[in-house]
Amino acid sequence: MLKKIFGRDDFPVPDRSSPLFRNINWERLPKHVAVIMDGNGRWATQQGMLRTAGHSTGVSALKNILKTASGMKLNALTVYAFSTENWKRPHTEVDFLMKLFSESLMRELEEMHEYKVQIHFIGRIEGLPKSLQKEMRAAEKLMENNTGVKFNVAVNYGGQDELLRVMQNFAQKAKNGELNPEDINESMIEDALDTCGNYPVDLVIRTSGDQRLSNFLLWQSAYAELWFTDTNWPDFTPEEFVEAIEDFGKRERRFGGLNK
Ligand code: FPP
Repeated sequence: MLKKIFGRDDFPVPDRSSPLFRNINWERLPKHVAVIMDGNGRWATQQGMLRTAGHSTGVSALKNILKTASGMKLNALTVYAFSTENWKRPHTEVDFLMKLFSESLMRELEEMHEYKVQIHFIGRIEGLPKSLQKEMRAAEKLMENNTGVKFNVAVNYGGQDELLRVMQNFAQKAKNGELNPEDINESMIEDALDTCGNYPVDLVIRTSGDQRLSNFLLWQSAYAELWFTDTNWPDFTPEEFVEAIEDFGKRERRFGGLNK
């Protein structure tokens, strides 16, 4: 029954009293969940379709997860849409993805705004097509005063690249005499990251069977819990997302210390 309501079809944003959330321990809700949406290509190939069809269906899956995150009042959801390494893919696939980002953003903008999403794009945005950059900045501006879930979309993002940019920025300031290297601390680094203003990542979810971080949010995930599933991203449902959240609620987190 739940599958039918909350499956791939469109559904309204559920509120906390929804049966979907009945087993969530609200005291132990993660603040920041990061998702590696893997397996679009494999999903499409298994259905006898072009890889690009997997990406298109992946957008619907993402929309449902964003609504679910919004309904449970998650503080932040960060998704890996395109890595600094994804440029190695065939031209046609890269072009398709850039168009898909633009079209999906334009199509979903108003609805996301209605449910108060705060969208933010992270990564080397200046390396993306100019028209897409403009659309991204306009979407951020439109939603900047919203109070709902922080939705960070990583595009042309790499964790190592992000840290490299922080180091270059600090080195430049030190060279200009504006920064004493001994004064650099963890909180300054956090403020210089693309995810500035977000809590550290509590939970990383990766779909499609591989169990690695693939250069995603390396600093931010230092103490994150990891949750893996064999499900390919286009088949990933709100129910499975909730399962990961429930599982997080049962984990014992010590952050290098001892249990109280
Ligand atoms: C990984 O699957 C997925 C991607 C590289 C793209 C993810 C993008 C989306 C789901 C669309 C997001 C849209 C917006 C608007 C943010 P893969 O192609 O690596 O799959 P494979 O490992 O099976 O080949």
